[in-house]
Amino acid sequence: MKLTVLGASGGTGREVVRQAVAAGHEVTAVVRKGARSLTAAPGAVSADGSARRAKGRGGRGGEARAGHGGEGRGGGAGGVREAGYGGGNGRLAVTTVADVTDPAALGPVVTGRDALLFCPGLESPRPPGRLGAAAHALVRAARAAGVRRLLVVSSSPVGPLPPDEGVLGRAVSPVLRAVFKDVYAEAAAMESELVHSGLDWTVLRPGKLTNRRGKGRYRRRVGGNLPDKGTLARADLARAVLDLLDDPAVRGRTVGLGSARG
Ligand SMILES: NC(=O)c1ccc[n+]([C@@H]2O[C@H](COP(=O)([O-])OP(=O)(O)OC[C@H]3O[C@@H](n4cnc5c(N)ncnc54)[C@H](OP(=O)(O)O)[C@@H]3O)[C@@H](O)[C@H]2O)c1
Repeated sequence: MKLTVLGASGGTGREVVRQAVAAGHEVTAVVRKGARSLTAAPGAVSADGSARRAKGRGGRGGEARAGHGGEGRGGGAGGVREAGYGGGNGRLAVTTVADVTDPAALGPVVTGRDALLFCPGLESPRPPGRLGAAAHALVRAARAAGVRRLLVVSSSPVGPLPPDEGVLGRAVSPVLRAVFKDVYAEAAAMESELVHSGLDWTVLRPGKLTNRRGKGRYRRRVGGNLPDKGTLARADLARAVLDLLDDPAVRGRTVGLGSARG
């Protein structure tokens, strides 16, 4: 498939890109601040297939060295570098879009794609509204380009506690929701843009994420949060993102995600 991954420099986004390329997809990875953060990551490979180190191997000015002979184009929105990544069968193009709240700037990375995957970090919302604005722009760009499939990674506290939540979850959840209420409000605004988009959307709601090695499995609940979610490895979240991309059962639904048991 032709996929565009936004938030691609983040912990989850990088893992989604790595797995998608390994699975043979054609991936456009969108970052806001230059390609180095993605292509200089552990696991990225240069054009000749040699492993890159995480430190000090990016090109000048924070740009990644082009792989496959990829040519940089312009500045601002749409500086493009192509690079091999993780030795997969697919292809990767890394694109800088400085302002992801501008639908016109998103147009080139959205046009002709089969699906858009948005994996933004939930930063402290200063100024507030940025995530909702980014989702709004993405929906507009998708509609304009005729792209129907849009999947975003949100967070479990945006949704209600499941009725079968355990004692610990019931105790901890109100504290988390109070402390990070501004952050979850941002994610709720993002979700709302999708729900009202008229597109084939899916919202994923994992709990706490880790960088541990994935189990290769996860639990899911369509339409609500999972109880006793445990922590979920970003590798397993990325697997879920790619699995659910093509699953008709999750179109127009939120999906709670949690760590596989055992
Ligand atoms: N961390 C957790 O424990 C946890 C728990 C539950 C759910 N989640 C959710 O899982 C998702 C991924 O989390 P993560 O920890 O892997 O992410 P992350 O590493 O914190 O960041 C992901 C990327 O999002 C991009 N980003 C940040 N703000 C953005 C904005 N307003 N618009 C567009 N892009 C933006 C940034 O990339 P650029 O600057 O290059 O664009 C960043 O590298 C998030 O939705 C998060 O809420 C996280």
